[in-house]
Amino acid sequence: MIKNIDKLMRSFIVDLGEENIVSLYDRISQQGKKLRSKLIFEIAKNSEQSLKLASVIEMIHMASLLHDDVIDSALTRRNANSFNADFGDKNAIMMGDILYSCAFSHLASLPQSAVTFVSNAVANLSVGELLDVELSKTFNTSKEKYFKMIYCKTASLIEASAYAAAVLEGFEGEDFALYGKNLGLAFQIIDDVLDVTSNDKMLGKPALHDFKEGKVTLPYLYMYEACKEKDKKHMMKLHKKSLNSYESAWIKDKMAEFEVIKRCMREAKNLGNKALSAIEKYNADGLKNIIRQMIERDF
Ligand code: IPE
Ligand code: IPE
Ligand code: MG
Ligand code: MG
Ligand code: MG
Repeated sequence: MIKNIDKLMRSFIVDLGEENIVSLYDRISQQGKKLRSKLIFEIAKNSEQSLKLASVIEMIHMASLLHDDVIDSALTRRNANSFNADFGDKNAIMMGDILYSCAFSHLASLPQSAVTFVSNAVANLSVGELLDVELSKTFNTSKEKYFKMIYCKTASLIEASAYAAAVLEGFEGEDFALYGKNLGLAFQIIDDVLDVTSNDKMLGKPALHDFKEGKVTLPYLYMYEACKEKDKKHMMKLHKKSLNSYESAWIKDKMAEFEVIKRCMREAKNLGNKALSAIEKYNADGLKNIIRQMIERDF
């Protein structure tokens, strides 16, 4: 299945008829987790249309990562140099645009309601990335703004993947969309937790990078809430700074003291349960496994 997705995505690029774009495309590592495709194939049967949907969604996701690494000044991705690290920001932006438009031209042949939902999600994704940049300018302490941002930048595409797959199968799209939305929110919380608890090698992308980029993700939000005034001030001083080992250890110690990671994991699990209750009547074991694997993942 995964191989077929990679093959179809590449054929979309080959059809553009630009050899240099094909060779640049080949330099992008293909080894993502393919969470969104796994989700699509848990909901829809294997067919020409579901394969096309998965390829389109993975291509959109790939484009968003090319742009995201420029935005986040990230030099690694999927255990290799990021595209911007090797080819510069300008090429990464244009390559992202090529992937987006190529994905859209194939999306257009899917059922109209799926096309509309996925297109809206892509607009939301960019709104979310913009909001992420905006919130990173200062020390954001609003959980509400954090949730709006992660819904837009991450959950909306996962929501749309589930909705579109359900449409292909003739199911109630809204139930699956609600599942996808909550899965997506939990997914980004885990991504934000892993930035703190994991390392570059496991993640294949920079760890302990978010706070330096100005992002006050959920673990940092909870830590801030729990800190005394003096420590709140110290935290603000470390925000957007390259941390030395003493400073990173201080943050991790405080997070351990206030059981911040446990709290984030509980929050992710609650969202996972919300996702499952949305699709209870479908008796879908595969979708339960997706939630479990996503929460227990270490990369
Ligand atoms: C990374 O997504 C960006 C986020 C939305 C957190 P993935 O973790 O799905 O990336 P790959 O495709 O597995 O590399
Ligand atoms: C990005 O979130 C989500 C996207 C829409 C691309 P992050 O910036 O946290 O993703 P990673 O950690 O770089 O994969
Ligand atoms: Mg990033
Ligand atoms: Mg980002
Ligand atoms: Mg991240």
